[in-house]
Amino acid sequence: MELAEVVHRRRMVRRYSPDPVDPAVVDRLLRYAQRAPSAGFSQGWAFLVLDTPADVARFWTATTPPERAAAPGRWLRGMTTAPVVVVPMSSEAAYRRRYAERDKAAAGERGGVPGAAEGRADLPWSVPYWHVDAGMASLLVLLGAVDEGLGACFFGIPADRVAHLRREFAVPADLAPVGALTIGHRHPTETAGGSATRRPRRPADEVVHRGGWHPVERSGALQPDHGEQHGEQEGEQHGG
Ligand SMILES: Cc1cc2nc3c(=O)[nH]c(=O)nc-3n(C[C@H](O)[C@H](O)[C@H](O)COP(=O)(O)O)c2cc1C
Repeated sequence: MELAEVVHRRRMVRRYSPDPVDPAVVDRLLRYAQRAPSAGFSQGWAFLVLDTPADVARFWTATTPPERAAAPGRWLRGMTTAPVVVVPMSSEAAYRRRYAERDKAAAGERGGVPGAAEGRADLPWSVPYWHVDAGMASLLVLLGAVDEGLGACFFGIPADRVAHLRREFAVPADLAPVGALTIGHRHPTETAGGSATRRPRRPADEVVHRGGWHPVERSGALQPDHGEQHGEQEGEQHGG
């Protein structure tokens, strides 16, 4: 399938048919996840894969508040039909370790990662890149599922159920589940649901700000030293 078609067709699927998913396809989706970009190529992610009815049931028991399990609504009844659940996780510790390594520590000496030269990476990023990267990996699974003719949904795990999930699957302490993905064949009667059916997609002229939010003086091409700051070469300012 063309990328444009995959992107346009992708939407969250919240009800699945009983048809099993070929394990080879699940493996392929996980390989896509591993092709995601990551800051400093840290790859501080892990994917809990649940692809047997028993393991999927353990997931739903662990993550569903008992009162909802007792009276499952439409969302839960639909989502629990998925034959496969993948829980992407991110490790802040992996990023701290990576940014204390020699090449990143060298960047620190030039002001890129304060403290990294001493093996203490303060990570001056404005957002936690470990979660960003797990999100990028998750998107590749979502897009890959469309390409494979499957449906998938990324969804949140209630904060007060995360401890239950950790216990049930012996999740290492440094890994944080960023959400979960259901994967399966779309049920033939399934229709689009969720927030996307209740609110419009924001138009491009509202979300795209070419050149800034206010009239800016266009200075032409970036000066070389300015360009370097935002560069991607090893050890540069943003240390990516
Ligand atoms: C970080 C994140 C959390 C989400 N959490 C949920 C969720 O808990 N339950 C759910 O049904 N959908 C969840 N969604 C799916 C969104 O509702 C959905 O992506 C959005 O409404 C746009 O619809 P579409 O993906 O079908 O185009 C989540 C999506 C993201 C990116």
